Amino acid sequence: MIADQAEALRELVAEERAHQDPPRADRPSSAQPRATTLAVTSGKGGVGKTSVSVNLAVQLSQMGRDVILLDADLGTANADVVCNINPSKNLSHVVAGRCSLQDALVEAPGGFRLIAGASGLSQMAALSEFERARLMDQMRALEEDADLILIDTGAGVGPNVLGFLVAADQILVVTTPEPTAITDAYAVIKTVCRHGQGLDIRLLVNMVRDEREAREVYDRVAGVCRRFLGVTPRYAGHILSDPRVPHAVRRRQPFVLEHPTSPASMCMHRLAHRIDRHAATPRGHGLLKRMAAWLVG
Ligand SMILES: Nc1ncnc2c1ncn2[C@@H]1O[C@H](COP(=O)(O)OP(=O)(O)OP(=O)(O)O)[C@@H](O)[C@H]1O
Ligand SMILES: [Mg+2]
Repeated sequence: MIADQAEALRELVAEERAHQDPPRADRPSSAQPRATTLAVTSGKGGVGKTSVSVNLAVQLSQMGRDVILLDADLGTANADVVCNINPSKNLSHVVAGRCSLQDALVEAPGGFRLIAGASGLSQMAALSEFERARLMDQMRALEEDADLILIDTGAGVGPNVLGFLVAADQILVVTTPEPTAITDAYAVIKTVCRHGQGLDIRLLVNMVRDEREAREVYDRVAGVCRRFLGVTPRYAGHILSDPRVPHAVRRRQPFVLEHPTSPASMCMHRLAHRIDRHAATPRGHGLLKRMAAWLVG
């Protein structure tokens, strides 16, 4: 299809440019530099959000970026488990005012910093004015302390998750080729589009046999989005289905470290390079501030 060829061409040209761009740190900075925020989400659970978030964080760190991964999964937060770390502080301590966001940062394997998630974040809705202001201040400080902030959201779109999504510079919707995952990915995109405009939404197709299968999934989702929502999510890429991914999870190591030359790691490498291009061009400023306002307001 012509539209898909055009899309593929745009990706290629953009990727080509990315390789010519100097690293972010070497670029002339305009205003106050701030992190790009990237929210990783899905409609259906278990499609690979945490695997993608953690391994992307490792890969981007290894490319010299200063990366913070915020595990905002309210129900089944587990980025810390995958990384084999047991932080004494997590996001629920921050919300309860027992420590700062900075205090909750822990070094994770591969060189990124993690803020572990926890259940109980529904308390967010009941924050006082003072707590709200404090959290916003901390999020602002965090933005100045990294190149890229990755947010691993829970599956589905509750009000809290929606807040992260509409405020992020980029939304990475993860799906697999399973029909239910595809339908749920569309549902997420639909909800997000109702609540925000001009969002940068990308579809990542995980656990595929080959790129062709990923492109087919993308075409289906993009086609329905175009037709019913008037928006076209971009193609973020694909991750091959690879038994080394669950193997690494069992060993509690990011797969890009445990199996750096595996097919899934190669895909992750490519994805990281694409994402990195956007780390240089954050949308507006103070987005985490907006996110915090949404989250607690
Ligand atoms: N590319 C892949 N190939 C093979 N297995 C994979 C791949 N990506 C993820 N998995 C496996 O799928 C399972 C779910 O992955 P993960 O926990 O990252 O999903 P999730 O979307 O974060 O789930 P949840 O919605 O529960 O947070 C894990 O066992 C993981 O090892
Ligand atoms: Mg998860």
